[in-house]
Amino acid sequence: MVFRKRAALAVLLLSAGAAGAAPTPEIEKRIDDLIARMTIQEKVGQMSQSTSLATPLSERIKQEIRQGRWGSFLNAGNPSDRAEAQRIARQESRLGIPLLFGRDVIHGYHTIFPIPLGQAASWNPTLVQQAARVAAREAAAEGIRWTFAPMLDIARDPRWGRIAESPGEDPFLGSLMAAALVRGFQGTSLADPASVAACAKHYAAYGAAEGGRDYNSVWMPELLLRQVYLPAFHAAAEAGAATFMTSFNTLNGVPASANHFLLREVLRNDWKYDGFVVSDYNAVIEMVPHGYATDEADAARKAANAGVDMEMVSTSFFDHLPALVEAGKVDRKLIDDAVRDILRLKFRLGLFDAAIPAPAVSRVTPESLAVAERLATESTVLLKNRGDLLPLASTIGSVAVIGPLADSPVDQMGTWVTDGRAEDVTTPLAALRQILGQQRVHYAPGLQNSRDTSRAGFSAAREAASRADVVLLFLGEEEILSGEARSRAFLNLPGAQEALADAVAAAGKPMVAIIMAGRPLTFHDLAEKANAVLYAWHPGTAGGPALAKLLFGQTAPSGRLPVTFPRSVGQVPIYYAHLSTGRPPLTSELGVPAGTPVKPSGYTSRYIDLDYTPEYRFGYGLSYTRFEYSNLRVSAPSMPASGAITVSADITNRGKHEGVETVQLYIHDVTASVAQPVRVLKGFRRIELKPNATETVTFSIGANDLAFYNERMQLVTEPGRFEVWIAPDAESGLMGTFTLR
Ligand code: NOJ
Repeated sequence: MVFRKRAALAVLLLSAGAAGAAPTPEIEKRIDDLIARMTIQEKVGQMSQSTSLATPLSERIKQEIRQGRWGSFLNAGNPSDRAEAQRIARQESRLGIPLLFGRDVIHGYHTIFPIPLGQAASWNPTLVQQAARVAAREAAAEGIRWTFAPMLDIARDPRWGRIAESPGEDPFLGSLMAAALVRGFQGTSLADPASVAACAKHYAAYGAAEGGRDYNSVWMPELLLRQVYLPAFHAAAEAGAATFMTSFNTLNGVPASANHFLLREVLRNDWKYDGFVVSDYNAVIEMVPHGYATDEADAARKAANAGVDMEMVSTSFFDHLPALVEAGKVDRKLIDDAVRDILRLKFRLGLFDAAIPAPAVSRVTPESLAVAERLATESTVLLKNRGDLLPLASTIGSVAVIGPLADSPVDQMGTWVTDGRAEDVTTPLAALRQILGQQRVHYAPGLQNSRDTSRAGFSAAREAASRADVVLLFLGEEEILSGEARSRAFLNLPGAQEALADAVAAAGKPMVAIIMAGRPLTFHDLAEKANAVLYAWHPGTAGGPALAKLLFGQTAPSGRLPVTFPRSVGQVPIYYAHLSTGRPPLTSELGVPAGTPVKPSGYTSRYIDLDYTPEYRFGYGLSYTRFEYSNLRVSAPSMPASGAITVSADITNRGKHEGVETVQLYIHDVTASVAQPVRVLKGFRRIELKPNATETVTFSIGANDLAFYNERMQLVTEPGRFEVWIAPDAESGLMGTFTLR
């Protein structure tokens, strides 16, 4: 039996938003009228985006705006330049077509939220949506009506620095984040002056760059692309994302910016996408060094024909499309279609009709900081808590605050921060001093920054540790070590941070390691030494109060890993939803220490010098209490293809603290015409339980949840046996079975 269903995810996600809304005849009429009057230069002007809106506005740029040379500017100007440029476009250009100002509002504008990977660790799409709404409001107030977010590249390789911007390794979680972010940015209407158009990027498969090296090639079977790398983009399109951005990479030898399969077949034909597509920065002309286009004219032709509507920064569209149209190498209709899509967004944003905005500035507010603090709290993952060291009692004598990330506002904000201000940040050091008072906090950074190798500060750090009851060690990566073009070949704590931890541990005090980083790091030895470990990613403006309150139990950790943490960089790529080999490793082969002599036994899929399992698994995260899973029930032994089944379990809080548990649903299709992963996340629910309370969590499973792509790229379900887990993470939990008839 083959069951065809294209938009399985659509069932899970809210219906189409603003960009996906039906075109209004009135807007279409106005667009037709403009297109009929536009010259070819004005048309390719709309298809061009520039960075060159320098402060103060030059006469040259003012003149170009009057001539309709640019449709959009990115990451440029201040609020008054933007307002003035917009006034010129609306009042002094021939057709009065407004400009669209885009910017990288990636995880906040002035109020900086945790990096997107951290946001995904909250497993709380509602809160993530709220944060995106705050970012939209702050950015829109300053004339930015388009953000180059959400970034939706599934990332399974922590060497890749842009994993920081991603929703992690899983398409289901990634799709929920995609929809939440789009809805947050775009609100209920793009015409709301507090809304910004979203941009789903980088389309597609950019996260699978070979070797984790940014901008590198991607080779990927279509099946994997459809199963894992496209769903989050589809979810963004379904949620109404106004724009898409092509990625820098080649996909199976064809650059994403000229990729007919991605841009025409999937995006336009399958998904019926009606927003517009912008290239990434210079990505069109980079097709020449890619070895795919002979020169810039050839690149412009290939990109426009494939479906890129707007070129970011490079000017091959403006320089060459008119002649290419004249020569019949690019269809005139194709240019009109691109311009139509761009103008439609400008109409939807109200840019043509709203009063020309006066320059305004926005600021962080107590309300925006409250959202930032809550998201920083919920994205922090408790990885270890030996002997329940945490939460600390407020009656504690004093703490030592040590490490290069304890008081580093810029690093705490993380990558891609253009408008966040260091002066708005509260660091953990400042927050702990507020809670405990100056006297009870002994501060010694130990290292100047995360890459520092000098041990000059170690003795002061050891001294601080010996005076305190507990050591709080703030380690990790500076912001500059993750993000675009920040691939790393090693995943360890950089600089002399491990040595600092050794020096401090010598004081013999209980130690809490708090790690702020843009990616999963490997820190096995540190985790052995520390009594407790909190993983805070780069937590943003309000990271300090969030962490201080978590440490002292004013709040409790609830974050769960959105990505698998390897034991060593040699295990990468590592992810939970892998296939089984014909020779799965034996559990007796766990924990093979480095340097173990090779035994002739065990011809299984493993490493001979290291445990094959991850250091921390996907979905994992502790809280200050303990949850017990019991009584798994599957509603029926089998289900028909058109039916549904429910799976439930009882979750009991067996500890002393109130806590949040993220209860996860995983499925395994045991035998299929295309082998399926050992587990796939299909649902989760965050529940809050008081001590001794029990809640029954029930998931419904329909045929959509069991679908996969077969060899003919059809989304199908096949009858047979399924395993199902209700679990606290991707490797444990209670298992049941059922069959699909
Ligand atoms: C290049 C990056 O890849 C992209 O994510 C970003 O939006 C653009 N530059 C604009 O800054």
